Amino acid sequence: MTAVGIDAVEIWTGNLKLDLPGTFAAEKGEDPEKYTKGLGLNASSFPDSYEDIVTMGANAAHRLMERKGLEPDDIGRIDVATESAFDNSKPVSTYVAGCLEQVYDGDFHHANKGERKFACIAGTQSLDDACNWIRAGRNRGRSALVIATDTALYARGDAGEATQGAGAVAMLISEDPSLVELSTEQGYGSADETDFLKPNQQFPSVDGKRSVQVYLARMREALEDFESVAGEVHEDDFVYAPFHTPFPGMVRKAALLAFRHVIRDTPTEDELAEEIGRQPRPEAFDSDEEYRDALREYMDALKDTDRYAEWYDATIDPTLTISRNVGNWYTGSVHVARASALKHALETGRDLTGEKLLVGSYGSGAQAEIHAETIQDGWEDEIEALNVDEQLDDRYEMTWEDYEEIHDVHNHEMDVDVEEFTTPSEEFVFDGWGRMGERK
Ligand code: CAA
Repeated sequence: MTAVGIDAVEIWTGNLKLDLPGTFAAEKGEDPEKYTKGLGLNASSFPDSYEDIVTMGANAAHRLMERKGLEPDDIGRIDVATESAFDNSKPVSTYVAGCLEQVYDGDFHHANKGERKFACIAGTQSLDDACNWIRAGRNRGRSALVIATDTALYARGDAGEATQGAGAVAMLISEDPSLVELSTEQGYGSADETDFLKPNQQFPSVDGKRSVQVYLARMREALEDFESVAGEVHEDDFVYAPFHTPFPGMVRKAALLAFRHVIRDTPTEDELAEEIGRQPRPEAFDSDEEYRDALREYMDALKDTDRYAEWYDATIDPTLTISRNVGNWYTGSVHVARASALKHALETGRDLTGEKLLVGSYGSGAQAEIHAETIQDGWEDEIEALNVDEQLDDRYEMTWEDYEEIHDVHNHEMDVDVEEFTTPSEEFVFDGWGRMGERK
């Protein structure tokens, strides 16, 4: 079977930055280490007043098309994944295509367009749909454009406020890809959950603590399901494991759980439980409390082992570098984690061609998915072309007052207008309804 996967990727960050241990912690009267050490975040990206999910998505897609020398006729499908959509009927991909048509001679009238929604996992689902469209031979020689774009904003004062972020990831999906080939083997963990909801509302209603538990439970199920089709996973099978990263502290928890699962020779494992949190508790324990304490003790001890530290530093930590500085991008987050890991490999001179990634996606509501990817021999050129460091450095750093203003500007319930903090340059901008995505 011909290889199908991601040929190229582009990342577009919101043009504003909020310093979390500095500006945010000071205003909240919290210890800065809650953000840097606890949540694992240094900063978040925000959209300026002229940015939104359409402009960020179109800018990422345009940069990708330019770099790859593509014309609209080369693209047969445009899927946008977002949980920040503003229209319950017309998909965001049509707005993005409208922007792109302003700068190309051709149009996208031939392209199948859609919008995918299942919280943060929708980006990976769109990727999967695009790969299947090509594998089914329905692409007529064309590639697909998958765009994951979100303004991940929470109500002011919500516990999630510290994990906000905004940005887009555009991916070109094709045969014989230069970056990664996606495996057709996937594992799922899916259940009807209400940990994070946005029923006809802009900002989420989120039970943060519960959402962390749901993430872990579904991810564990997805890993087991993946193993049922792909065979046992061992700690050295994958060079990196990019996971959905609402904040790096979440991935630290998921990584420990995954590690506990893949090291099958841990002597005390059988004494404790077959699976974390599984009920009924193993008979060896007289009470839930005793069982929980034993689990906690075991996990704490595991976390302190050199074996875990080495695995975490090599396989997980490099996936978090960009996320630490941009916050949660919802649908784009796991794709940022992949780029972050490959960037780390490039910077440290590793040869990764033929090596594998274990990719773990998650969407509240809730579903986790795990699949493997094989790194292709054009990966270095693709990753070298990313200008993400430059974009992050160029962001305007907001004061607390700036942040309050911009949050209000992006609050759909408020009618606030402020001057832009940055000057758009060669990019699509939001310029009022009806004139979306004008290029400046
Ligand atoms: N020094 C070091 N660490 C500190 C600290 C300090 N001074 N103060 C606190 N911490 C640690 C805490 O111990 C905690 O770590 P552990 O969980 O490992 O114990 C961490 O910092 C966070 O502290 P709190 O739990 O007190 O933080 P909080 O209650 O204010 O908020 C949250 C945490 C509930 C997760 C909140 O950020 C939230 O609601 N986020 C949005 C929901 C979310 O992202 N959920 C993730 C799973 S759902 C998902 O993934 C989908 C999605 O994208 C939303």
